[in-house]
Amino acid sequence: MSVTAISGSASGIGAAVAAALRAAGHEVIGIDRANAEVVADLSTAQGRAAAIAEVLERSGGVLDGLVCCAGIGVTAPSCGLILAVNYFGVSQLLDGLQGALAQGRNPAALVIGSVAATQPGADQQAMTAAMLEGAEGHALELANGLGQPHVAYACSKYAIAHYARRLAPTWGQQGIRLNVVAPGAVQTPLHQASLDDARFGKAVRDFVAPLGRAGRPEEIAALVAFLQSEQASFVHGSVVFIDGGMDAMVRAPRF
Ligand code: NAI
Repeated sequence: MSVTAISGSASGIGAAVAAALRAAGHEVIGIDRANAEVVADLSTAQGRAAAIAEVLERSGGVLDGLVCCAGIGVTAPSCGLILAVNYFGVSQLLDGLQGALAQGRNPAALVIGSVAATQPGADQQAMTAAMLEGAEGHALELANGLGQPHVAYACSKYAIAHYARRLAPTWGQQGIRLNVVAPGAVQTPLHQASLDDARFGKAVRDFVAPLGRAGRPEEIAALVAFLQSEQASFVHGSVVFIDGGMDAMVRAPRF
């Protein structure tokens, strides 16, 4: 049986991915703050190290899949925390589990990014450069100093997609596929918290995808299950949008 570790498995997209992969015959090692096989806080270096150690122990050091879904949105308690979970909590999991994936059968890894990564200027922010340099303390300071959660979120999602694509050449040579799925609005507790937020609720409600609704977690999970399967054996280093047409609506000439 193939073994896949999934962060953020207790809620929303991660829970739907866990259900889809279990249905496809994978053994799932869930990682989350609670209600998971591996309980860990991915916002800290110690929590990430503990999560990696426990996944390696449970998997015997051999993983066939890794899906990084854990993330926090614009209602997070601080801007720095957004970067700590969405960028460092993902990049360090990828780094720490690469060796186990290299031992796996047809291994594939996937990061849940966001259509927010395409927000103009996210690639130019100083905090983005700091994340990509691995300077966590500096990046968090810059994000907290700016104090704009939607910018921190966009930068964290741009940086993690960039990071994954930067890994693709070496991972590909090791036979490990690595892709990014970039959802638009998906009806989950994270999205509901944005809708309910006094600062962001109206903007989120007004920004409707051409298909006229938010996605369902199961729709994202179906794409993830495909990308993690052998049917997607030549898909590597891609950023795949699943957003009801949002990206096409906003950036038709850019692809
Ligand atoms: P959710 O809130 O339902 O699930 C996120 C999960 O991540 C939760 O189980 C939570 O406990 C876990 N998590 C958060 N911080 C953690 C930490 N420090 N350590 C360990 N686990 C932690 O949210 P949703 O919407 O399912 O989000 C999943 C991913 O999808 C996130 O990366 C999010 O940024 C991304 N996304 C969500 C969109 C949406 O509209 N819902 C749109 C685009 C991307």
